[in-house]
Amino acid sequence: MIIEDRPALAPLTTLRLGGRALAAVRLERLEELSRLPETLKRIGGSPHVLGGGSNLLIEDGELPIVVVRPLIGTGDKDEPQPLGRESEHCGTEGNLLFRVDAGMRVPHLLSWCVRHSLAGLEGLVGVPGRVGGAIAMNAGAYGCSVAPLLRSLTVFTPERGVHILRPDGWKSAYRRFCLKEDCSWFMILSAVLALHVSTPPALKSVFRENFRRKKANQPLREHTAGCVFKNPEGDSAGRLLDAAGMKGVRRGAFFFSPVHANFLVHDVRSGILGTSADALALIAEARQRVKERFGVTLDLEVRVWPCLS
Ligand code: EPU
Repeated sequence: MIIEDRPALAPLTTLRLGGRALAAVRLERLEELSRLPETLKRIGGSPHVLGGGSNLLIEDGELPIVVVRPLIGTGDKDEPQPLGRESEHCGTEGNLLFRVDAGMRVPHLLSWCVRHSLAGLEGLVGVPGRVGGAIAMNAGAYGCSVAPLLRSLTVFTPERGVHILRPDGWKSAYRRFCLKEDCSWFMILSAVLALHVSTPPALKSVFRENFRRKKANQPLREHTAGCVFKNPEGDSAGRLLDAAGMKGVRRGAFFFSPVHANFLVHDVRSGILGTSADALALIAEARQRVKERFGVTLDLEVRVWPCLS
């Protein structure tokens, strides 16, 4: 277990924003989890699990939080572990099961899927971050999301330690995921995913088409945290923000993307210091404009640390 004092958090996020935590605790072996609660208690502050940091807006300053980094394994050489065929029920015939570490990068998992002609995760193309974060956010796009592929999870909670959950142990919905059990916080360690065999040309063409659409419609090369707001039922937050005139609106080093109005871009080349006060004020303005114009209150998709509802 490696403990780093007062780590800078901005470099750990795709938005490149945030102050310093009290500490970062990085686990190197599964057995270290038994010592984690005691270590966290000694450091103080509230534990926050940080994977790829791709859906996060972290406030500036000295934050009363301790960042817990999941086991990252040995990097991109790690591969999902085959567990055999899913028993045939509920039309799942033909699914193959794989155990995937939560610390694996989503793009690495996707290129492995392409190499092995395994379908199911095509909607995640262009999504950065780690598998654990994609599960905790129920990430998705183009009609696919992670939760329907999940068959079991190995999680850690301070209350119960390491344990395995079946689908009746969690709740998921559009960009929502939570455990049903009472716990102060949880960390996903690994997941069993059901994927199905496709043909290489069919799979490659779906990946290619999804990536083409993403590149055309989203600012993939900029520093963002993905979509800022969730889509309200039956509509698109991006469409509402666009119609409310938010595209290109700037405050300090932040602006709403002219490519897609639901992406807040941190213009790190502007020479202006990006502050969370500016980012949050711009988000508040966007929310206000959409409320005034359409009577719709947008909910945040991006997670704000230390906390904001
Ligand atoms: N639109 C506009 N202006 C904009 C953006 C969108 O008019 O600035 C319109 C589009 O023309 C389209 C409609 O809004 O008619 C929907 O747009 P899009 O297809 O881009 O999808 P979205 O609803 O804005 C969602 C997800 C994305 C996901 C895409 C593709 C949310 C909040 N967003 O965006 O997910 O990649 O669909 O499936 O659910 C994310 O969650 O971080 C994310 C990027």
